[in-house]
Amino acid sequence: MDSPEELAPAAVPTAEAHGPHADLAAGLLATPATASPKYFYDARGSALFEQITRLPEYYPTRTEQHILSTHAVALAGEIAPGATVIEWGAGNCDKARQLCSLLAPARFVALDISVECLREGARRLQAACPAVQVSALAADLTAELALPADVPCERRVVFYPGSSIGNFDPPQALDLLRRMRRLLGRDGALLLGVDLLKPVPVLEAAYNDAAGVTAAFNRNLLRHANRLLGSDFAERDWEHHAFFNAAHGRIEMHLRALRDLVVRWPGHARAFRRGESIHTENSHKYSLGGITDLLARAGFSQAQPWIDAQGWYAVLLARP
Ligand code: AVI
Repeated sequence: MDSPEELAPAAVPTAEAHGPHADLAAGLLATPATASPKYFYDARGSALFEQITRLPEYYPTRTEQHILSTHAVALAGEIAPGATVIEWGAGNCDKARQLCSLLAPARFVALDISVECLREGARRLQAACPAVQVSALAADLTAELALPADVPCERRVVFYPGSSIGNFDPPQALDLLRRMRRLLGRDGALLLGVDLLKPVPVLEAAYNDAAGVTAAFNRNLLRHANRLLGSDFAERDWEHHAFFNAAHGRIEMHLRALRDLVVRWPGHARAFRRGESIHTENSHKYSLGGITDLLARAGFSQAQPWIDAQGWYAVLLARP
């Protein structure tokens, strides 16, 4: 990377981004610059995310697990054995193990964008739950999804844990819930984990952990971009910045340039001023009313919520 002074503005190619990962290139060239959070999840990013889920400050994962085990009997009463569970964004399939022993499904379909992590996770899940037919499917969950023809249409349960719904802006989240609704027949259900609004210091600590794992996870996006685009981002030039944006009810993650610099990749160059940032993630936090309303607009008429004692997190069982 060079300093901007080394590159006269006229020398910056202005052609539109195209080719593989054109959305990533276009986001990096935009002002303000953005990168989709899906670019966090190469193999290293997925491993860093697993570490995040175990951090003391990151309460969502353990709170969700606690809700699921506290309400296991009620949940099993709602979903009889033999269902087809489809996990959206299954990662290493760790959450699936808890759910499979709870619901005893006949079939488990794990979907994720990160193939490496998914295959290994599905293999471990199959070994742990031999009675369940486990399959893994690499899928870009931001696009329309077609399931293989052998996945039964009856009694489907879409499992979308971890408050990943929060990583979409509300209109996109609505679109996603509608797509999930379309995967379900009249006898299907959606089991959704949602992070709720809570005091700002608790929220901000969860995205600014003392060990710096979230910072490494955020900066890893630059390494991934370098591999995908052939760019020359240097991680040391960027700092992690995460804060609660009250107007939008969301945590925002950014990568902020520590100096004036220019990033180059074949056909392109982008100058960043010191302090300028790349917006890498939104993590929306909902009120119970807000998420119930979104579910209703997506075509789910009933939603049974289970919430932890502090009111920090909700697991909802929603039916069409
Ligand atoms: C995957 N997703 C729900 C996480 C979140 O909390 O928004 C991703 C994450 N980003 C930073 N920490 C965790």
